[in-house]
Amino acid sequence: MKILGIIGRSDIPTAHDGSAALIIDNKIKFAIEQERLTRHRYAEGEGAADAAQACLEQARLQLSDIDYIAYGWLEDLKSGTKVSQEITVSDELTPIILPPKQFGYKDPPPINFVQHHHTHAAVTFFTSGFDSAGVLVIDGQGEGVAISLFHAQGDKIEPIETYPVINSMGMFYGAASARAGFGWHPGPGKLMGLAPFGQIRQPIDFKFDPDTGHFLLPAPIQKAINESSTPPTADDVGMFWVHYFEDYFFPYRQNWDTYKSYYDATNYVDFAASVQKTLENLAHNLALRLKKLTGEKNLVLSGGCALNCNMNSMLSESKLFDNLYVFPAANDAGCSIGAALALSNTIKSPKISVKRLISPGFGRTYTNQEIIKALTKFGFQAEKLSDEEIVDHVAQDLADNKIITWFRGQDEFGPRALGRRSFLSNPSQRETLGRLNKIKGREMWRPLAPSILREKANLVLEGDLEPGLHRYMLGIAIVKSEWRSKIPAVVHVDFSTRSHLVEKEQDGIYWSLINKFYETTGIPLVCNTSLNIAGEPIVHKPEQVLEIYTKQDDVQTLVIENFYLTKTESLYNPNLSS
Ligand SMILES: [Fe+2]
Repeated sequence: MKILGIIGRSDIPTAHDGSAALIIDNKIKFAIEQERLTRHRYAEGEGAADAAQACLEQARLQLSDIDYIAYGWLEDLKSGTKVSQEITVSDELTPIILPPKQFGYKDPPPINFVQHHHTHAAVTFFTSGFDSAGVLVIDGQGEGVAISLFHAQGDKIEPIETYPVINSMGMFYGAASARAGFGWHPGPGKLMGLAPFGQIRQPIDFKFDPDTGHFLLPAPIQKAINESSTPPTADDVGMFWVHYFEDYFFPYRQNWDTYKSYYDATNYVDFAASVQKTLENLAHNLALRLKKLTGEKNLVLSGGCALNCNMNSMLSESKLFDNLYVFPAANDAGCSIGAALALSNTIKSPKISVKRLISPGFGRTYTNQEIIKALTKFGFQAEKLSDEEIVDHVAQDLADNKIITWFRGQDEFGPRALGRRSFLSNPSQRETLGRLNKIKGREMWRPLAPSILREKANLVLEGDLEPGLHRYMLGIAIVKSEWRSKIPAVVHVDFSTRSHLVEKEQDGIYWSLINKFYETTGIPLVCNTSLNIAGEPIVHKPEQVLEIYTKQDDVQTLVIENFYLTKTESLYNPNLSS
């Protein structure tokens, strides 16, 4: 049974993170985010039609070959038939979501609209490998719901409790990020990185009681809600928070247009610390309530807030649950896969059996011919090396402090680069952090993450490293004191690092590369950051890597599959460039 999962509306300018996925007989065959194709980060207002088309092309299918279409949001429909509590089927929006010109149909095929938080819950639980789990979904909102608690057992995902947009932690954190000058996208990740620099000078009165299930909001926010003539939307709630932050934290109103040129992040470090701590306290008490209501030993998280590594690790360290897992695309992009899995589970027999995610490499690869064509276009003749040679060459380049573009295997789905589309570098010099931030156009204070051999992780890092977080770079760990001066490029101001554990069985060549670097230098990790530059999504095509390699002087080595170039030996001939 073939199901096309989609999320993303081109007629709603603020709709973001569009994506599409092809699920065949409950297996994720292909999935891609719209931003990778259109090259606009978060693909706001771009829908997901190109991503859907890419899914079909990859499998050599037409839309008419698809058995069911699933969508990751239960839209406000004028017509439709209820399939289940969470799913309604209708063809009303098909021409918007899958334009007829692009997909060549006469009669619009019906789309199964799946409740948004149910899709978040489905993708994270069905890839967790757990038989049962408490599921906590925390995002901006979906259909007016901002937080959902579920109990998942076998093929059943039962809702327990939901909380409305006035309690939205996603809007709270997004508003804080906007107020700190980072914007709603990709601001939250930056605010999280800034928080360890600060101290909590003013706590925020946003709390959750795990016994009663009641939220407490700061009095001015509650007053604004009470005085609203209509129930506040998520956007209203976001603006209530922005105004509250203005009044409570800052003694002035900011004109952002004039302020941008002399913006200084250090003004916001204490604010960031307060916001981060508030988020963590709320998440802790929600997890506590979920534990009370389900008695589960496993916790799975989803929704945009589950990309907050510090929050995730706090939950892991709290030991409320024995095991914790987060799907790497915890943001809305994951809801195309979640919608398809949820629909499949509703209509298909046998139902889904839960399997642990090995890797989110659901995208496409490139043939030797395609790579040679791209290289030729840029005037290169690259040598094709064996796996062993690639490992030897690149490990030596890393030891020589070269910065590498590493492009191998299928595209990874979600915001984290886990060793397939990465910049790799040597962590032993602090300058590496500045070099990478300069190449990527990032703020100089932003930290860099390591990919570390799983077998050696406890040598370098303190504490238990929850595999359901650290396999996917979704948690933090403290670097042991004796290692901090050896790997300064990946040590943040609070001695934490956003570690990515690399396993031999699942990561093959990538593991071998880090192991070779370890044999060469005695350091069992490399710096790993996503292969993209300022404002652009992670690269998708070999040409985009070549563009970075040719334009960035400080990027010295290029690897695309087994093709290798390095600038000291490269055969770059600018006369051949197109
Ligand atoms: Fe969401």
